[in-house]
Amino acid sequence: MALIQSSIARKIVMAVTGLFLISFIALHLAVNLLTLVSADAFNEASHFMGTNPFIQIMQYVLALGFILHIAMGIQLTMKNRQARPVAYAMNKPAENSSWSSRNMIVTGLLILLFLVLHIKDYFWEIKFGDMSMQSDFELVTTLFQNPLYTFIYLFSFILLGFHLDHGFQSAFQSVGANHYKYTPLIKLLGRIFSVIVAIGFSAISLYFYLSSL
Ligand code: HEM
Repeated sequence: MALIQSSIARKIVMAVTGLFLISFIALHLAVNLLTLVSADAFNEASHFMGTNPFIQIMQYVLALGFILHIAMGIQLTMKNRQARPVAYAMNKPAENSSWSSRNMIVTGLLILLFLVLHIKDYFWEIKFGDMSMQSDFELVTTLFQNPLYTFIYLFSFILLGFHLDHGFQSAFQSVGANHYKYTPLIKLLGRIFSVIVAIGFSAISLYFYLSSL
């Protein structure tokens, strides 16, 4: 990772991996929303995602995408802090930039913690656990019976929404798509996408938690 010396190169890697992760999140949300439609439809889609050879290969690409995105994010933040250890005296961050843009490393690292928990309980459980007594759908319904677990998920989805709100437009800017006419449209699309992601995933967790009461 130290090979990527230029900050422009690092930003491009962040942007390309970010856009790839955005497409994964869109697909993942679409599959997971099937839990609200029918247990069979979700189990079939989940089984397909867990066994299709192309998707299996893409899982390695996805893991690499996550690793690069996280490593570059940490490196970029550290380099920025080294370059400016003392903040500008006249900097008024709240007026000049959004909360999401100033806290990308914080929301990003908290999403990483969520991912560790999520991979352990879903991916690992489905691949290596004893799933003989339950389907993927039952795994989802069982996990969301726990209020603390549901709360951690809801909190993470809100953080993900903020992370995506800045990340979406920033990724387009880093790959050079910066235009007075299109940038506001990209920002709007990013906001709509982030809200759909946060509300969509939250609706699944809340639905199964409330159904278990
Ligand atoms: C209600 C919310 C969610 C549910 C019910 C859910 C469900 C699942 C399930 C069932 C799997 C295992 C798929 C398989 O291996 O067959 C999985 C894997 C995974 N999930 Fe989620 N997920 C949710 C939210 C998220 C979010 C918000 C992210 C990303 C920020 C995410 C990232 C991943 C990753 C990286 C994997 C491993 C790769 C894969 O198996 O496709 N998930 N999830």
